[in-house]
Amino acid sequence: MQTLLFGDGRSVEVAPFTTGLLKWIGNKQRMAHEIVSYFPPDYGTYYEPFLGSAAVLATLQPKRAVGSDTFAPLIEIWQTLHRDPGTLKHWYRERYNRLMSGEKVAEYERIKASYNRKPNGADLLFLCRSCYAGVVRFRQADGYMSTPCGPHNPVPPEAFAERVDEWYRRTQGAEFRRMDYREAMALVRPGDLIYCDPPYTHSQAILYGAQRFRLRQLLTVIGECKARGVYVALSIDGTKRSGTHECKLPIPDGLFDREILVNCGRSMLRRLQMGGQTLESEVVADRLLLTY
Ligand SMILES: C[S@@+](CC[C@H](N)C(=O)[O-])C[C@H]1O[C@@H](n2cnc3c(N)ncnc32)[C@H](O)[C@@H]1O
Repeated sequence: MQTLLFGDGRSVEVAPFTTGLLKWIGNKQRMAHEIVSYFPPDYGTYYEPFLGSAAVLATLQPKRAVGSDTFAPLIEIWQTLHRDPGTLKHWYRERYNRLMSGEKVAEYERIKASYNRKPNGADLLFLCRSCYAGVVRFRQADGYMSTPCGPHNPVPPEAFAERVDEWYRRTQGAEFRRMDYREAMALVRPGDLIYCDPPYTHSQAILYGAQRFRLRQLLTVIGECKARGVYVALSIDGTKRSGTHECKLPIPDGLFDREILVNCGRSMLRRLQMGGQTLESEVVADRLLLTY
């Protein structure tokens, strides 16, 4: 496998797009343009089966795409953006006004309690923008959202509405569906492109809640897609560590043709685990593996 460091082997130039709609741990917003620059110049439908905050999809702005994730409240947000962006603006404004006109932490806790009674996109949208460090954390046993209120003020509704308009425009070609990655990857046809950004580290499994994910299974499915003439790009945490665990990656020989190290600065997740300290010396590079 050929390893390319920062810059070689790109096939398209894409402008950075760093204005996120959702705050999502492990999001690729800052480096999405770098990732996209290694995608093939021509492909059929773009699939992103671990969609999260859709940073890569919105940077790419594909003509035809299927964005999917197993997390229902998240997909509710994306489907609502697609169907009726005004509703997203309303969800945000209504909660922002409550938070800013009442006792901030108590209002935040009320919104969190509403989410935890019945997980839903409207509350999640606001919580991810107002919670501590933008890290939406779920209890593994039952999916209970546990992050406290952040010290910052969330962006005003007018600024958020502008983001919604921009994101609406950028995601016009996409269809959003709630499904497991295996279901999504069974839909692809020769010439399509899949970008996978799975929750591969131990800490991410905790952050995203109860979903079970096995990298080995994903690698098998990627092999099947490659054999059918589909392009696959896979992001992997370049540090290979999660807390005290060394993550050994079971990547079969010959599955990927290229590996690229994408610079992503310091890790948000690590900052939180270190009790708010930043690790100035630790520059993390994400690995991008390509089957083409
Ligand atoms: C690392 S995040 C993706 C981050 C995304 N690239 C971004 O920029 O925000 C992984 C996502 O995979 C989703 N997920 C976990 N298990 C899944 C599964 N079996 N099938 C599909 N999605 C899954 C999680 O809900 C989470 O949103």
